[in-house]
Amino acid sequence: MNTGLINNVVCFEGVSVRFGAVSALDNLNLELRGGELSALLGPNGAGKTTALRLLLGLTRPSQGTVRVLGGDPRRSEARRGVGAMLQDISLPPNLSVLELLRLYAALYPAPLSVNRALELSGLSDQATSRASRLSGGQQRRLSFALAVIGNPELLLLDEPTVAMDVQGRAAFWHGIAELRSGGCTVLLTTHLLEEVDRAADRVIVLSRGVIVADAAPGSVRARVGLSRVRFSSRLDAAHWHTITLPGDVLEGGPAGQFSIRTRQPEALVRAALDLDPALSDLEVSRASLEDAFLSLTGPDQAPTGALA
Ligand SMILES: Nc1ncnc2c1ncn2[C@@H]1O[C@H](COP(=O)(O)OP(=O)(O)O)[C@@H](O)[C@H]1O
Ligand SMILES: [Mg+2]
Repeated sequence: MNTGLINNVVCFEGVSVRFGAVSALDNLNLELRGGELSALLGPNGAGKTTALRLLLGLTRPSQGTVRVLGGDPRRSEARRGVGAMLQDISLPPNLSVLELLRLYAALYPAPLSVNRALELSGLSDQATSRASRLSGGQQRRLSFALAVIGNPELLLLDEPTVAMDVQGRAAFWHGIAELRSGGCTVLLTTHLLEEVDRAADRVIVLSRGVIVADAAPGSVRARVGLSRVRFSSRLDAAHWHTITLPGDVLEGGPAGQFSIRTRQPEALVRAALDLDPALSDLEVSRASLEDAFLSLTGPDQAPTGALA
């Protein structure tokens, strides 16, 4: 199919990436429209970083075509319009935040002001600090500032909030909101599903190089149709296993607290009250995005950190 390249900031067409026997991406078809914030989710090894590297022209597809801002990601016109924050980037340690931002700004035709980049990343108070003096979280903020200084049309962020503290994350999401109001398209990977639930227009779940879900966060949850039933009981897990239905997942918490992921909350609640009339703290909630994610990719592939 011939795709409308003007509307599509990003376009993957039949893209596969193989590393020897490993298939990192398998026939990926994906289009991102201008202004969208999409979150790429998936367990470790799902192919998220590979997808971002393709968009930066750092990895070549074994098969298929990748287009960014209507062009080949390896060409400089496309690269000028893309800001990126990858993992494990080392910065020159003796340069200050301000100096690095000025250096980077000089590479772009219409950069943001250095002050604006500082503001968006919440680094205004560290402007004169050397990069090596920054904490881990502040270094991530600096990477973010460097990713946005070129005033990108497309922003690619690989696990941007890792190592950020609560304030850092709040500053980051505030910065993202500001950039989006200017029309910036954002694609990010993360393990923090709660943040995605609030901020993303679209959730793309990858599992073993294949898209297993692609929808708004709410409809990914709805499609999975899960509820979570929580309660406290003196009965042990063996008792509770007897009332779970096929597909239900029982988790025993500390001090007699239980949680069951289920598609049939009404039936389960009835059976639970029959089994233990003394049951307490009963609570039924809609599945979180994390629950949906686990059910789509399988609990054995849970992302690190997401269950904490
Ligand atoms: N340069 C590489 N050489 C060999 N295998 C790689 C390379 N990059 C990624 N892979 C493999 O491709 C798969 C997808 O990796 P990656 O895209 O980094 O996943 P994610 O970012 O979702 O954790 C993994 O099995 C990984 O080991
Ligand atoms: Mg990765």
